[in-house]
Amino acid sequence: MTRRRRVYEGKAKVLFEGPEPGTLVQYFKDDATAFNGEKKATVTGKGVLNNRISEHLMTKLAEIGIQNHFIRRLNMREQLIKEVEIIPVEVIIRNIAAGSICKRLGIAEGTPLPRPIIEYCFKSDELNDPLVSEEHITAFGWANPLELDDIMSQSLRVNDFLLGLFAGIGIRLVDFKLEFGRFYEGDEMQIILADEISPDNCRLWDAATNKKLDKDRFRRDLGGVEDAYQEVARRLGIIPEGGPGDLQGTTAIQ
Ligand code: TMP
Ligand code: ASP
Repeated sequence: MTRRRRVYEGKAKVLFEGPEPGTLVQYFKDDATAFNGEKKATVTGKGVLNNRISEHLMTKLAEIGIQNHFIRRLNMREQLIKEVEIIPVEVIIRNIAAGSICKRLGIAEGTPLPRPIIEYCFKSDELNDPLVSEEHITAFGWANPLELDDIMSQSLRVNDFLLGLFAGIGIRLVDFKLEFGRFYEGDEMQIILADEISPDNCRLWDAATNKKLDKDRFRRDLGGVEDAYQEVARRLGIIPEGGPGDLQGTTAIQ
């Protein structure tokens, strides 16, 4: 890694100061964690795949008018992004019951939900990202009611679009997590989509077999994590030129 100021390090990504004011470099690590970092491993090539998958999805979203932080990909593991003030709320959109909603509400995994359901979690590792309501978000000032309306309507648009995009490649978009930030330009402030969209923060099931093609393979020790991420990239048509061979040695590119 070249020497530059590290602005933030998360569990799967590092943010560095960008080449010009108002920009950051988002670096995708191969580290995988689950259960708030309790379970840890390295998944070779994951960072390279997530960089490409997120680039692809963010670019497609921008094309339909969903503003987001992605500017351009810089190399195998890095992308240039707009600096935003992250809203400390994880937005979860669910189409099919899976994961925590099943435990919380006693619903069988795989049950289609009557309509997309949005949930919010407060971003706090110490508190284990607790589920919160709109009331908490506005009362504690994490976002104001107008911002929250904007976040909700953008999230539903992202869901509509991604549902169709994944359906077209034989994948069911079960649920996913988004993060938003405030982007300041002159006197203007806009809420834009940030973070990443990849199999790390989506549940993606093969439409024919329901095979899991996402981080649940890691969370639940199902094996074949990198193969599943590669399958998603392949179906999206974005496997690195030269095929999976390009992914060998990706760990060397730090
Ligand atoms: P959950 O069922 O564990 O609440 O997860 C819902 C979705 O959100 C799933 O696609 C995984 C994603 N997610 C994250 O991206 N980060 C997290 O910290 C958690 C808990 C879930
Ligand atoms: N991202 C969270 C963690 O690292 C949880 C998850 O994705 O399951 O622990």
